[in-house]
Amino acid sequence: MAEEKLAIDGGTPVHTGGFPSGNKVGKEELEQLGEVIESGNMFYTSGTKVKGFAEEFAEIHGAKHAITSTSGTAALHVAIAMVNPSPGDEIILGPITDIGSVIGIVFQTAIPIFCEVRPDTFNMDPEDIERKITDKTKAIMAIHLFGNPCDMDPIMEIAKKHNLIVIEDCSQAHMSEYKGKLVGTMGDIGCFSLQQSKHITTGDGGITITNDDDLGTRGKLFADKGWHRDAYGPRKYTVFGINYRMNELTGAVALAQVRKMKDVITLRRARGDLLSELLADTPHVQPQVLLDGCKHTYWQYGLRVLDDAPFTPTDFARALKAEGIGCGQGYIGKPIFLCHDALRTQTIFGKSNFPFDHPNARPDLTYDESTCPITQKVLDHMVTVSISQFLSEDDIRDMAAGIKKVARLLGK
Ligand SMILES: Cc1ncc(COP(=O)(O)O)c(C=O)c1O
Repeated sequence: MAEEKLAIDGGTPVHTGGFPSGNKVGKEELEQLGEVIESGNMFYTSGTKVKGFAEEFAEIHGAKHAITSTSGTAALHVAIAMVNPSPGDEIILGPITDIGSVIGIVFQTAIPIFCEVRPDTFNMDPEDIERKITDKTKAIMAIHLFGNPCDMDPIMEIAKKHNLIVIEDCSQAHMSEYKGKLVGTMGDIGCFSLQQSKHITTGDGGITITNDDDLGTRGKLFADKGWHRDAYGPRKYTVFGINYRMNELTGAVALAQVRKMKDVITLRRARGDLLSELLADTPHVQPQVLLDGCKHTYWQYGLRVLDDAPFTPTDFARALKAEGIGCGQGYIGKPIFLCHDALRTQTIFGKSNFPFDHPNARPDLTYDESTCPITQKVLDHMVTVSISQFLSEDDIRDMAAGIKKVARLLGK
C-alpha cells in the first residue's frame, strides 16, 4: 500500500468541493411576512408577530418576561440597563467574545473587568471570576462560547455569595444545556442574538429573558425609550432608555424561526457530537471540552492544538485546509479589549476617559497584554471548523478523517 501523504505535501485531499451551506429561511417565514404586509401594520404594539415570538421563546425557556430587540448587542445592553450600574461599577466577563458583550457595559458607564478562560473548555474560569470581584462588582456576564455551556454551578454560587446579578450571554448557544437546564435560565437574565450566523436568525435581532418582575419591567421600558405606554395624560418616562424595538417584519421571521429552533438544535447537536465521537483519541489536538451533564450546540466546533504537539496551530490549520476542510485559526485573535483601540486606551466619549476616570472607578485599571495571558494562549492554540444543520453524516466523517490525518502525519 502506498504511504499516506498529506495533501499539503502532494497527497490526495480527504474532501473536495466544499461543504453545503443551505438556507435557514423558507416558506414558513414568507407566510408570516405575507401576513404582516397584508395587514399594513409593521409596528409591534399593534401587531401579533413580535409578541408571538416573545411568548413562544419565553415559553420554551420557562421565562416570565421576554424583551425583543434589534440585535444581540441590544439584548445585552438591555440586560446591563436592568442591572442599572452607577458610573465606575464593575461587570466581570470573559475576553473571548464579540464586542457586543462589552458595548452595553460601557454605554451604561460601567467598567468591564475581564477574567481568564479555562484552556480546555474555552469558557470563563470561575476561580478567576472570584479573584476579580471587588466592592464595585455588580454583575457577572457568563458567555457560553461556541454553544458550550459555562460551568454555571460555581458561577451561581459565587454570585450568591457576593450578591451579584448573573447575565448569560447565549448569543452563540441557543438551547445549549447545563445539567438539564437551558442556558439563559440559570442566571438572572439571559440574552440571545438572532444575527445571520446564529442558530435561529432574522438577519439581525435579539431577545432578553428573565423571571424577575422588576428586572423585566425595567428592561422592557429601557428598550422602548423608557416610555410608559399605558399611562394617561402627559407622557411618562421612568427609565432613561433607547429605541431597540423589534418591528413586525423581523418579528414575523423570528416567529417562524423559533418554531424551527428545536429541530435545528437537534440536528446541529447530532452532527457536532458525532464529530467529537470520531475524534476521540486523536493525538495532539483536543476538542473543546464539554463538562459532564452538558449539551453543546456547536455554533463553532473548537479544537485546541496541545502545547506539546509536534506542529504549530498555524501549520495544522494550513494542512487541514489543504485536505479540503475549511477552518479558522484563533477566532477573534486577541482578547477583545486588545481588539478595540477605544477600549484598550479607555477613550470612549470624546477625548475624555469617562467612565474609567470617574471618582467611583478604580484608578489603576489598564487593559494590556498582561491582563489575560492565559486567554491569549488559548486563542493562539485554537482552531475552529464550522458545523451546521446542513452537513450530512458523511461530511462530518470527512471532517474527522481530515483532522485525524493531519494530527497523525504532520510533524512526523
Ligand atoms: C458571544 C456574543 N455576544 C454578543 C454578540 C452580539 O450579537 P449581535 O451581533 O447580534 O449584536 C455576538 C454576536 O456575534 C456574540 O457572538
